[in-house]
Amino acid sequence: MKTVTLKDKTFGISIPEAKLFEAIDKVAEKMTTELEGKNPLFLIVLNGAFMFASDLLKRVEIPAQLSFVKVASYCGTESTGKVTELIGLNEDVKGRTVVIIEDIVDSGRTMYGMVQKLKSLGVEDLRIATLFFKPEALQYDLNINYVAMEIPNNFIVGYGLDYDGYGRNLRDIYTLIS
Ligand code: IMP
Ligand code: MG
Repeated sequence: MKTVTLKDKTFGISIPEAKLFEAIDKVAEKMTTELEGKNPLFLIVLNGAFMFASDLLKRVEIPAQLSFVKVASYCGTESTGKVTELIGLNEDVKGRTVVIIEDIVDSGRTMYGMVQKLKSLGVEDLRIATLFFKPEALQYDLNINYVAMEIPNNFIVGYGLDYDGYGRNLRDIYTLIS
């Protein structure tokens, strides 16, 4: 098996690029059908989703806008709880169809915060697209519209996903061995 070592950890190849592309093709087809005529704004969550967004959105050939955001989360007041801030969101999202493009939904906390934030900004039709989804890890009530691949609850790197900043540039997906 092909392995890579990133800092102190070793990872083994688990999903080759070709398999990712097959899954991405299917999501792209579904998106094209469902979003045609809706003038969607794709919100790409940095850093992890950059490769997925690139390969996905070049296959969704409909009029659309793209924007790149970073998610910051901090503790608000007692009544507001955790507050999510979207850094780099310069578009007016009120009344729009917005599709979040994420690399992986694990506990779902990041996406849940983002959904609350975007709803409060008046998004009319909010959808989530994720490359990977770990159903066993989910702890929040989320409706994920587009899932390219469901995976077991193991730590992965590659194709945009990192371990401590490393591994994002790998073209295939690797799973933690030791
Ligand atoms: P959540 O908020 O718990 O759903 O976590 C989502 C974020 O954690 C993702 O956007 C990733 O940045 C990171 N993450 C979760 N699982 C993995 C993984 O297996 N590899 C790399 N990053 C991960
Ligand atoms: Mg992420």
